[in-house]
Parts: sequence; C-alpha cells; structure tokens
Amino acid sequence: MCYILQGWVKSIRKSTDVVFLHVCDGTSLEPLQIVIDKTTSCSHLTYGCCVKVKGQIVESIGQNQKLELVAETIDVIGECDVKIFPFQQRTHHTLDYDRNHLHLRPKTKTHSSLLRVRNTASMAVHQYYQDKGYCFVHTPILTTNDCEGAGEVFQIQPMKKSEKEEFFRCPTFLTVSGQLHLEIITGGLNKAYNFGPTFRAENSKGRHHLAEFYMIEAELCFLDGLDQLMEVMEDMIKTITSSILTTSHSDVEYFYEYIAPNQHKTLIDKVLNSKFERMRYTEAVDLLQKNRQKFKVDIKWGDDLSKEHEKFITKKLDCPVFITDYPATLKPFYARANEDGKTVAAVDLLVPEVGELIGGSLREERLKFMDEKLKSLKLSEEYQWYLDLRRYGTNPHGGYGLGFERYLQFLLGVSNIRDVIPFPRSSSHCQL
Ligand code: 4AD
Ligand code: MG
Repeated sequence: MCYILQGWVKSIRKSTDVVFLHVCDGTSLEPLQIVIDKTTSCSHLTYGCCVKVKGQIVESIGQNQKLELVAETIDVIGECDVKIFPFQQRTHHTLDYDRNHLHLRPKTKTHSSLLRVRNTASMAVHQYYQDKGYCFVHTPILTTNDCEGAGEVFQIQPMKKSEKEEFFRCPTFLTVSGQLHLEIITGGLNKAYNFGPTFRAENSKGRHHLAEFYMIEAELCFLDGLDQLMEVMEDMIKTITSSILTTSHSDVEYFYEYIAPNQHKTLIDKVLNSKFERMRYTEAVDLLQKNRQKFKVDIKWGDDLSKEHEKFITKKLDCPVFITDYPATLKPFYARANEDGKTVAAVDLLVPEVGELIGGSLREERLKFMDEKLKSLKLSEEYQWYLDLRRYGTNPHGGYGLGFERYLQFLLGVSNIRDVIPFPRSSSHCQL
C-alpha cells in the first residue's frame, strides 16, 4: 500500500547506494526512516527541509527501527538553507540557545516533545476533574480584583486616550487568580475548576517565575478541614502524573534520559508511591532555625519561607511536603482563621527541585470573621459581594491553585520555567 509522509528532515546519511533520511511529522518523538535509491535526485534535500515522501512501508533490517519507508517519490516542499539555519544536525544545542530562537524552537526534539507532554498533561487535568464531578468554568481574564492582594497586577486601559476614562470606569487588571470567581460559582455548583492564563507583574527573573503562566484552580464545598483538602491535592497530583507517564511515555522518557537531573525518574516514581509529608509552618521554622548555619538569612516566626528554605525542607524529607497553618499576615484575606487567632488554615505544597507547586486554603466562610477581616484591611466597600456569599447560604469550602508550568518542570526535571511554555513572558522579556 502506498504511504505518504509529510514532515521535516531530522537527519541525512548517505551510504554507497542509498540515502537514509529521518523525517518527523511532529506527531511523535521518533522519526520514520526513509530509504532513497541514490539514482533519485537528492540535491535539494537538506537537514531541516520540509518534504513529501510517497512509498512503501516495509520491515527494516536495521536495528534502530522496526519499519521504514522505501521512497518512490520525494518532493521538497520547503527548502532550508543549512548554512544559516540556527539548528544543525549532530550539534548539541543548549536549552538556553534554543530559547533564543523561540519562533523555530518547536522544530527541536526537546521542545516538540515538551509541547506534546503539555498537551497530554492538559487533557489529563481535564479528565481528572471531569471524572471527579467538577464543573469546568471560564473565569474572567479581565477583573477588578487583586485576589492575592500583593499588588502584582497588570493594570489595563484602552490605547485610545479618549476612552481611558470611560471604558470600565474603574481600575481593571489582568487576573492574578480566578479563585474569587470560582468561589461565586461553587456557591451554586459545589465543585468547580478553571484552567487558564494568569498574570503576575512580579519583578522576578528566577527559574520558577513567569509574568504569564497557566494555573489550574479547583474550589470545593463541604470540606471538613485542611486534611481533606490535602488529600484532594495529593490525589490530583498522583492521578494526573500516572496518566501522563502512560500516555506520553516516550516523550517523558526522552526528558529523563537527556534533560532531567540524574535520578529524576526515581524521584517521580517515589512521589507516586509515597505519602506526602505534612508539617506545620511553626514546625518548619523550628527545623530551619536548628539548621540556621546552612542559610544566607536567618528565619524567624512570621517570615515567609525563601527558596533556599523550601529546597532544604524538601531535600531533607526527600518527598513532597505540605506546609500548613501559616501566620495570617503571610496569606491573603480570604484564608480561614484558626482558633489560635494567629494562624490561618492555608497550605502550600512544596516539591523537590521546584519548591512551591500549589497554594491553597480553607476560605473564611463565617460572615462575622470575614466582615472584621475586610474592615481591618479597609476592603469592605469593594468586597460587599464577597460578604454576600457569606450572608446567603454560606458553606465551608476551600481550594487551591496549581502552577501548570511549575508542575511540568517538576514532572520533567526542567530547570528553567521558560523551557516548558511555548512563549515565555517575564520581566524584560516578551518576544513574539
Ligand atoms: O500561591 P498562589 O499565589 O495562589 C493563588 O493564586 C490562589 N488564589 C490559588 C487558589 O487557591 N485558587 O499561586 C498558586 C500557584 C503557586 O503555587 C505556583 O505554582 C504558581 O501558582 N505560581 C506561578 N507560576 C509561575 N510563575 C509565577 N509568577 C507564579 N506565581 C504563582
Ligand atoms: Mg503561593
């Protein structure tokens, strides 16, 4: 039967009487070997060019593949001038180098693999929540709230000067989190999730921060405590991870073999098969203080954990760790107050090599407490609608947000977050 393959040449090798091409059509990691009789004109065939091959699929006598395509005709659809093409056959390019050619990066083996895993991971996320009965909701990108209260918002306004005043008639931002909108939805639907772009004007150029990243947020009612929320988070991480390892097996293995640090695969196996650790913020601070000589800066109760602290804790426990019950001052206004009056029922999941992967909390559902909190922060006026949720049929609830790119970094062992998103945006960088 005649087979047609259209794709890009990933390697060319000439032997005495045949030419071997490896052509990849982008749908999987492995290219197909094409065998071309030397009498066929191959003058325009170069590494990187786009071809259409017609021929017969046969069993290969070579050791590296089961099947190959014996070409009957081969047409060059798009030539590629290898003298100036930034990627060269048999040359190792670093991920930093690839990133400098964002518009050509999907042609590389690493980035095309990444994009396929990203796709599978997105589907695994949706499948997980659908199976558990959550309703998928599009929370808005334009919003008037700064959910996290950190002031790291991008404010937007129309370009035309005359419309600046009138358009929304109030300061409007790109969303930093859809959580508050999800809380509105769960007031009627019980369980909901979103999965969309999120924007933070953080001035961080670090390996784990983007100005535009994707977040998966889930919100659910009738939780009986933080322990139950942690069960839900752990189950989600384990379920989507094993699903991706199955569906994207060869792409993920490629990362473990060529990109991730040694033993990364073992780490992921361990994550799937062990119970995540749990530690209160206060215990974490005690542990860090006992090891203070290892850190650049001392930590005292009330301080946020720094990257080096997170790294130390996950390394010491060699496992994902939930840190719970943070000082109220470290978490946003919505976190539910604990009985001690000092801490809140908030939780971060820290994972080895990446640090914070998920942030979540029980939400303050008690009208009196929320009213007082908003008054103390002088936010009462703008959050009357939020108090209404507590006035009319309030319910215990909570939720969390998972940074999708940080998750991919963790899964694949990629050290720079800019390498797990097709078009990274961060402070001073917004190409294309
Ligand atoms: O901890 P965060 O700020 O939590 C929230 O936004 C909550 N409102 C979520 C919720 O409860 N619905 O952000 C959640 C996660 C972080 O743990 C991290 O993985 C990721 O989002 N994240 C970032 N990822 C990449 N670049 C950044 N600048 C990020 N900031 C947060
Ligand atoms: Mg956080």
